[in-house]
Amino acid sequence: SKKLKIGLFGFGVVGQGLYDITVSRHLNLEIKKIAIKDASKKRSLPSELFTTDRWEILNDPEINTVIELINDAEAAYEIVSYALKNGKNVVSANKKMIALHLEELVQLQRKHDTALLYEGAVCGSIPIIRNLEEYYDNELLYAVSGIFNGSSNYILSKVFNENQTYGDALRKAQELGFAETDPTLDVGGYDAKFKVCIAAAHAYGLFINPDDVLNIGIQNLHLSDMKYVSEKGQKLKLVPVAKKRNDNEVSIYVLPKLVERDDFLYNVENEYNGVSVQAAFADQQFFFGKGAGGHPTGAAVFSDISALRYDYRYEYKKTLVEEKVDFNNEEVIQV
Ligand code: HSE
Repeated sequence: SKKLKIGLFGFGVVGQGLYDITVSRHLNLEIKKIAIKDASKKRSLPSELFTTDRWEILNDPEINTVIELINDAEAAYEIVSYALKNGKNVVSANKKMIALHLEELVQLQRKHDTALLYEGAVCGSIPIIRNLEEYYDNELLYAVSGIFNGSSNYILSKVFNENQTYGDALRKAQELGFAETDPTLDVGGYDAKFKVCIAAAHAYGLFINPDDVLNIGIQNLHLSDMKYVSEKGQKLKLVPVAKKRNDNEVSIYVLPKLVERDDFLYNVENEYNGVSVQAAFADQQFFFGKGAGGHPTGAAVFSDISALRYDYRYEYKKTLVEEKVDFNNEEVIQV
């Protein structure tokens, strides 16, 4: 397989997680430079590896692969689009940037015959993008839903199961590196919305503008609501949904949802994520795994890097056109 010379943008939780993983494997790849924002921060690696100048990576003809793991979605967009235009393959885990610019980025990568992969952007270690792309190729997907945000799930778990306060649980999620720099993105349901929009592109071949999608988060839930729900033996979870409404339409939204004991989501706790796929023939499937954190998310990024070694690309070929299936699946689409 071809040698990957990598320029890495960002050395935060996921960047460091990815670095640990790559150095522990003996593959035909090299991380040549790491671009960071803050040169004064103490780093665990030799200083020659770092730069604060993005052009040292973007204009280095030797670097054929850019891994983008920074926080700032606008800067990430500039970096990723420049890299694609200049013939470099890109792996990103930036769900906000991808969700906001996906259609254009897909056109760019096609035009310049480059690849853009982002398994790590949706539900951390769970390989949901790859599955939606490949496994369900000719399936009919009724719905993709689940728990897509580790931080809000962590907070709900701590408040429900351990009687922690919302504020304490949020601070802990931040300390553990699960939360976004602006945690409103997590608790307000924006992060889950970005992820479900990306998933919908692979499930249905639709590029959905996140601004058009309703998201209601967990930030306004009251303790009394939670107590009431607990007493009834249910739980509240923040659930994004993309589901087929009819032959030409998909409904997509993020809402707090009551889940019963027999729901797969009931046992998804803390920073774990769960993705439920409802398909006509495969029926229901459930994917479970860590949705945040350096090594789980780094593992997904690493998987994309490995896939670049054999020129893997996404195709986004799902459409809503289908032959009529008459299985009376009404009940399963009630997500
Ligand atoms: N803030 C995100 C979460 C990180 O809590 O799920 C992973 O995308």
